[in-house]
Order: sequence, then structure tokens, then C-alpha cells
Amino acid sequence: MAKIAPSLLSADFTRLGEEVKEIESVGTEILHIDIMDGHFVPNLTFGYSMVKALRPVSDMIYDVHLMMTNPLSYIENFAKAGSDIITVHTECDDDINKCLDLIHKCGVKAGLSVKPKTSPDALFPYLDKLEHILVMTVEPGFGGQSMMTECLDKIAVIKAECASRGLNIPVMIDGGVNADNVQTAARAGADMMVAGNAVFGAKDRAAAFKTLSEGANL
Ligand code: DX5
Ligand code: ZN
Repeated sequence: MAKIAPSLLSADFTRLGEEVKEIESVGTEILHIDIMDGHFVPNLTFGYSMVKALRPVSDMIYDVHLMMTNPLSYIENFAKAGSDIITVHTECDDDINKCLDLIHKCGVKAGLSVKPKTSPDALFPYLDKLEHILVMTVEPGFGGQSMMTECLDKIAVIKAECASRGLNIPVMIDGGVNADNVQTAARAGADMMVAGNAVFGAKDRAAAFKTLSEGANL
């Protein structure tokens, strides 16, 4: 079953706790939490204290996407705050092996992400250490952008490399997922799809989540 992971970035920031509860009540299992540092991307969002504050609010899997130039020194705090998955970027300035090892040492699942212009090969040296792969389908930094569908081709390349090594790592896509392209993304092999605007921006979020979840599994 392919899963839809609503992104908190598109929630109403004046009432985050209620937003998290509401999105869990429509059947969400994975909540995507975008952390932006103002360097790696030209935008700022939440810190680990926000993740910590939201932890008691729900039992969803907290999938924390670190869009940070130097994630290494923050990993422990994000882990302690209650993250279930922590994803760093291949394009960050820190040592990727050190980041992944630290995430595991903290008892958290480790993810690695590639931006649209980065080749999927950049993930390959680290596959043995990954429980999660995140393929960006927009330039990271903002919600509500259009999907760069050409990025979906990376999924087959990644899956083939994983299969050749006997690995089965779930691949999530992130950016611009909506009711019109969710089936295309599912056919391309995405196991999980982040959806910010398409869920939190909808008047009827339960209906939007259901439409996307059904579309992802047709
Ligand atoms: C973009 C973030 C995404 C974003 C997706 O930098 O990583 O997770 O929230 O939002 P939508 O689904 O609106 O493109
Ligand atoms: Zn994200």
C-alpha cells in the first residue's frame, strides 16, 4: 500500500497541535515535518522544540526532513524530541556517514534525500545504512510548487540498485503531489508521497486525503 504523508508545512501555524490531531483523525499514519535552516534553502520553519511540543499530540510516525546545511549537530536533539525518521540531504556539508550513524545511534530510522538536480547515484554509497529514501520532486524550500515529473524516473533507478543488492528501502517523493499526478507517481514506484498543499490546503481534508490515498493505490 502506498501511503500519503501530509506535510505540516501547509498546516495553520496558529493552531499546530489541533492541526496535527485533525490530520491524524482522517487516517494519516505518517506526518512529514519540514525543517528548514535558511541556508540550505531560502526559508525557515520549525526547530526541534516544535517537534518535541507536538510529540504528545499524536501517535503518527514523525518523518523529519532536515533541509539543513549542517544537520549533524542537530540530529540528537531532533531524535530526543521524538522523531521516528530523520532524513538528511546528500547535498549537505556534513559527513553523510556520520549523520546516518548518529541517527541510528539515537535509535531512529535514517533517511537520505536528493534534490531534483542531484543524480540518484549520490545515494548509492549509503544504501546499506538507509531505512528511507526521499526523492525531491520540487526544489526544496516551499510548499505549493508544481511537481517536476522528470524526477520520478529516479525511483526506478534507485529500486533497481536496491534490488541488485538485495535491499528493499521505501522511496518517498516530496513536492507537488496532487490528485492529478498521484497515480503517475504511484506507477513510477513511489511507496510514500508527501502532500502538503493538496491535503492541508483542501477545504475537506478527509476527502482530499482519501482521494490521494485511493489514487496512490489504483
Ligand atoms: C518542500 C518540502 C515539502 C513541502 C511539500 O521543500 O520539503 O515537504 O511541504 O509541499 P507540497 O505538497 O505543497 O508541494
Ligand atoms: Zn519535505
